[in-house]
Amino acid sequence: MSYFAGIDVGSLTADAVLIDETSNIISYAILPTGHDSQKAGTMAFRTALEQAGALEVDVAGVVSTGYSRGRVEEAGNSKTEISCHARGAFYYFPEVGTIIDIGGQDSKAIRVRPDGRVLDFAMNDKCAAGTGRFLEVMAGALNAPLEMMGKLALESTVEITISSTCTVFTESEVVSLISQGRKPPDIASAICRAIANRTSGLATRVGVADTVVMTGGVAKNRAVVKMLSEKLGHIIMVPEEPQIIGALGAAIIAREGGS
Ligand SMILES: Nc1ncnc2c1ncn2[C@@H]1O[C@H](COP(=O)(O)OP(=O)(O)OP(=O)(O)O)[C@@H](O)[C@H]1O
Ligand SMILES: [Mg+2]
Repeated sequence: MSYFAGIDVGSLTADAVLIDETSNIISYAILPTGHDSQKAGTMAFRTALEQAGALEVDVAGVVSTGYSRGRVEEAGNSKTEISCHARGAFYYFPEVGTIIDIGGQDSKAIRVRPDGRVLDFAMNDKCAAGTGRFLEVMAGALNAPLEMMGKLALESTVEITISSTCTVFTESEVVSLISQGRKPPDIASAICRAIANRTSGLATRVGVADTVVMTGGVAKNRAVVKMLSEKLGHIIMVPEEPQIIGALGAAIIAREGGS
């Protein structure tokens, strides 16, 4: 039995997925990218291999993706995140029309054809606002764990609007809201709504299809997903582990021959 691997080295996490010849997911790993993206990709790949009890020789094809895809030595080929997220989302939801990927450093909206091929995409990679980084900075300002931001936001009872559009100004605004005695859930909710509002603009640019799928780490924040879904007027499907979808798509492309 041969395996195929996808390695997605993003700005924040390096993810690897191992699949078999019928595209079943065998194992995966999510590790911090850190300052050495090449090493991070290798470590993610090795961790996924270890978990599967497999060796590198068992792997018939490797495709890399993500911001540092060019630095993955193990990969025979590399593909853009757009192609890989589209392929990975299609694996879980073949009816997908629009994909929204929010990672640590950028956010993207991708429109796909009924066969899952990419039709159009829009991307924000110029500004941290609207990305996972924005959420991390605001979680720091609120002194709340990043993983709790969504849960906290869903406990909000009073709506606050954040007026700044930039991460640095928003951070000051959050600090001043705290000193005014505003409640953390209400502030967290305003932060998540700011991300949802920005992302909805991106999605509208490519077109919002009936089935919207969200990928990337920020899809783990339930408040962002809920607010974005309300804003778009569509249910948003989230795969079981949204953070590995780019790597999964890369693995599927590797299984299909790597191009
Ligand atoms: N458990 C969690 N709960 C909420 N948010 C999370 C969780 N884990 C990760 N995130 C969010 O996901 C982001 C990282 O996402 P991801 O791993 O998809 O980024 P990346 O692929 O490295 O970045 P990029 O694609 O921009 O290069 C973090 O910035 C954080 O906001
Ligand atoms: Mg990514």
